[in-house]
Amino acid sequence: MGIAAEIADDWHAAFAALVWQVEAGADEVIADAPVNRYDLTAEAHRSVAPPAERLSDPPSTVAQAAQSSDPVAAARAAAMAAATLEELRRAMTGFDRCELKKGARNTVFADGNPAARVLILGEAPGADEDREGRPFVGRAGQLLDRMFAAIGLSRTSPEPETAFYITNVLPWRPPGNRDPEPAEIAMLLPFVERHVALVDPQVIVVVGNTPLFALTGAKGILRARGTWGLALGKPLLPMTHPAYLLRTPAAKREAWADLLSLQARLRS
Ligand code: URA
Repeated sequence: MGIAAEIADDWHAAFAALVWQVEAGADEVIADAPVNRYDLTAEAHRSVAPPAERLSDPPSTVAQAAQSSDPVAAARAAAMAAATLEELRRAMTGFDRCELKKGARNTVFADGNPAARVLILGEAPGADEDREGRPFVGRAGQLLDRMFAAIGLSRTSPEPETAFYITNVLPWRPPGNRDPEPAEIAMLLPFVERHVALVDPQVIVVVGNTPLFALTGAKGILRARGTWGLALGKPLLPMTHPAYLLRTPAAKREAWADLLSLQARLRS
């Protein structure tokens, strides 16, 4: 093949690849080199540097990272610079790298008692949460409140022993309540990690597939539920999401067993 034909071939191949990407939904160029977000999520699980190390970075490094073309690095810099929950809330509210924020009415940060021993991690706000700016306030949230009340835990309790704290992997509602994408989870994971570090709960309960995947890289909540694991240095209990329990009442029996397991762990 002559050089002219090779160049024409390259051009057609590049154009075909571009058309394919546009059809697949890519509508923005973020960086010159491709980034595998699945790897990033796995990497994040392997290497979460202790906050003190990150905070002692020179301010210029943090500022540089915040400007980074890599949104995950920018999220990490913003998250690690937060020394309190209020600072973290401000950092998340001011974070503009995630497209989901543009379609959301509110940044849904958290609810409950930050001194609680139990931190519950959900998926993302739905329509009710987006409107109110608080996690788990819709039908699923009301069921969740009743479930945890059955073992003596409430988000409004002032006592750490009888309280829980609750937040989500994503602070913004995905359009049409679609499942969060791995790239969105990877981008917002640094905020979740910092959130957990600042609250420093005794145990984490993940409800549903998204938080299970975000914290452990595992898939399949129905298989994982009820089996204690470890994430971010904390005991972790996976449970089914209350929205699933609303659709599948027969699964409440297993959820009850999981709640009793949590109660026993807190008593021990
Ligand atoms: N489902 C979630 O995972 N989180 C919420 O805040 C509401 C519903």
